[in-house]
Amino acid sequence: MNHDSEMIDKSKDDSVKQDNIALYQETKTRDIRILGIETSCDETAAAVVVDGARVLSNVVASQIDLHRVYGGVVPEIASREHVKAILPVIDRALHQAEMTLADLDGIAVTFGPGLIGALLVGVAAAKGFTAVTGLPLIPIHHIEGHVASAYLANPALRPPFLALIVSGGHASIIEVRDWAMPFREIARTRDDAPGEAFDKIARVLGLSYPGGPAIEKAAQGGRDDALHFPEASFEDSFDFSFSGVKTAAINAYRRIERQAEREGRAWPRDLTLQDFAASFQKAIVNTLVSHTERALDATGYKTLVIGGGVSANRCLRDNIEEMAKERVIALTIPPLTYCTDNAAMIASAGYFAWRAGRRAGSDLDATAMANLEDINDFLTNINL
Ligand code: KG4
Ligand code: ZN
Repeated sequence: MNHDSEMIDKSKDDSVKQDNIALYQETKTRDIRILGIETSCDETAAAVVVDGARVLSNVVASQIDLHRVYGGVVPEIASREHVKAILPVIDRALHQAEMTLADLDGIAVTFGPGLIGALLVGVAAAKGFTAVTGLPLIPIHHIEGHVASAYLANPALRPPFLALIVSGGHASIIEVRDWAMPFREIARTRDDAPGEAFDKIARVLGLSYPGGPAIEKAAQGGRDDALHFPEASFEDSFDFSFSGVKTAAINAYRRIERQAEREGRAWPRDLTLQDFAASFQKAIVNTLVSHTERALDATGYKTLVIGGGVSANRCLRDNIEEMAKERVIALTIPPLTYCTDNAAMIASAGYFAWRAGRRAGSDLDATAMANLEDINDFLTNINL
């Protein structure tokens, strides 16, 4: 090893540390403004948030209409749309916040997990802006962002708490012990995510993408006990599994189709699309609520937050609320705009990460399969 380069690196660390401590002392008396950038899937988003909770702008350019015809997100199309939208979206977020880059304290960006080509667009933009401005580059894990959406809804919220994050890619129960890290994922899905199951079954039923809202709508007025779908759980673990319920629902629908055909109708005499959607939705919601309930009991947390696209589901929100009320658990459920992908949640998480001294260098890479623990790689300098 070259000793010169080792010495240079260490002295660089020390000066970064001094800079950050000075910066923190100065900024305790003023607002901290973070620009958040999110491009992990099919939403190009940018937002400016003050002190992790006050949203000055929250711009989301959704590509849903483009992907709908394919029944799901097409990665190549997503990347191309991000390239087109990213600068106008950032421009609009700054404009709505009545700011220029010079007014910011840092730029936070989702580095993973997600579609690699999509993530790269946001990461490259954030790197470009931080390179020309000298602003800190703050790498954010997408799930951390979904957790932070709770601070936007409830600025009085304080760790420690438990978070249920459910989306198109995740079903996780996370112990949030501090503002930025350490987080501990105490449950994850062993196969599909609940949003993925909603999207797949919606496709089978001939409903539109995204499937979650389509199934929720179809479920209105349906009997949720018309069909019985399996609810998977594991001994000694809070982990989820949704592939079983997904397969059971596909098989049930094929049987129903055959019966309907025999009866010469679209649906059999004693069953409706509404019944099917309500029963399927109920199975997913029951699983999410019962696992969260078990995790609360085992860990003793008295505060719960939920987030992620699937937490926009009314049935889930109502059932979680009821469970929390029974157990005297303080519950935060973000409004719908902060449940689905957005950049305000990334800017909020960015603020807490900024305060904890998390910084990335100009070599920051996008990581499709990022774990929450990967954040530790960026904790280079300080403990404020
Ligand atoms: O968090 P999100 O916007 O993106 C990911 O990180 O995946 O979540 C998108 C997922 C999709 O699978 C969509 O069907 C689901 O969230 N979703 C819903 C609802 N709104 C969105 N699922 C159930 N009910 C909803 N109302
Ligand atoms: Zn998400």
